[in-house]
Amino acid sequence: MKASDDQYPFLKACRRQPTEYTPIWLMRQAGRYLKEYRALRKKHSFLDMCKNPELAAQVTLQPVDKFKLDAAIVFSDILIPLEPMGVEFEFAKGEGPVFHHPLREKKDMERLRVFDPEEENSFLMKAIRIVRKELEGRVPLIGFSGAPFTLASYVIEGGHSKNYALTKSLMYQDRPTWDSLMEKISEVLIRYLKAQIRSGVQAIQVFDSWVGCLSPGDYEEYVLPYSRKVMDGVDKNVPLIHFATSNSTLLELMKRAGGDVIGVDWRVDIDEAWARLGHDVAIQGNLDPVVLLGPVDLIEKNVKKILDRVKDRPGHIFNLGHGLLPNTPPDHVAALIEAVHRYSSRR
Ligand code: CP3
Repeated sequence: MKASDDQYPFLKACRRQPTEYTPIWLMRQAGRYLKEYRALRKKHSFLDMCKNPELAAQVTLQPVDKFKLDAAIVFSDILIPLEPMGVEFEFAKGEGPVFHHPLREKKDMERLRVFDPEEENSFLMKAIRIVRKELEGRVPLIGFSGAPFTLASYVIEGGHSKNYALTKSLMYQDRPTWDSLMEKISEVLIRYLKAQIRSGVQAIQVFDSWVGCLSPGDYEEYVLPYSRKVMDGVDKNVPLIHFATSNSTLLELMKRAGGDVIGVDWRVDIDEAWARLGHDVAIQGNLDPVVLLGPVDLIEKNVKKILDRVKDRPGHIFNLGHGLLPNTPPDHVAALIEAVHRYSSRR
């Protein structure tokens, strides 16, 4: 049956409306822990899968068909809009993303292109339309992007980094170059998210995965204006989840930057995070993904701990504090979802 958007527990929770049970979805719910994913991945590279709308749609649906998840998230990557901007990268085996020509100078930033995502990321927009059709209204579909800081850090560091020394040095020592990069990325992200919304996503998550490396003062000065610009720039009818890790010192500032829902990791207790944020915003989180390695009674105990802290307050979306690990047993994912639905049932 096709539900209208205001009937889905996930979308209701984003708007802090009461739900019959706590909705759950999982970051990286599509991926290597599923044998169905690994079977396709044997035949195609990760980026080829992202760029093929039929394959991306198929992978998006794998976890939704297998588990009782309350939302789907389109299969893609936060790095996808960088390529049409003129930034080349590849996924080296076992290494994650590698950028061969990291950008560090003003002239590099000036060369970056602001592009039309309907045109140059058309594969993603097509994947969204296919998934919406195939879901037939079973669960809502989430679209996503990186946040300006996290994308800037990849472009400057040339990959993942331990201490973000290059990113921070540019930020501290060459403000005009920093601003010009953040400005370009923000402009691209607004267009990229708007195009996903036009293509049919019913919620958005903005991943600022690595922003927790900043002091609150630096976040406020160098990052918040750009994150706010992106989130202010997208359609207010579609709920927006603003996620980061190691963000317990940044919560109030992240709320100021924007989002109907703030995503938190396991390093902070969820009730404490919510009290600090204020209960006029929804919250997502925050099970440590390592708990999912098991055993099942440990998973159940930790689900209960989180739900007990939330105390049935409307506006909680259950999730992990960061992405599912590739060695997670799928039956533990099923047990997690079942436990969240059972313990939170308010019928
Ligand atoms: O959540 C989902 O199921 C949707 C798909 C999704 C992927 N990446 C698929 C993926 C989403 C939402 C992302 C976001 C993403 N990508 C983030 C933000 C979330 C986070 O983890 O903090 C970041 C930082 C990236 C960049 C990225 N992509 C890295 C660092 C890596 C390598 C690390 C790793 O896990 O291998 C990727 C690759 C990637 N993105 C994979 C998947 C399924 C693994 C690719 C493979 O099959 O080899």
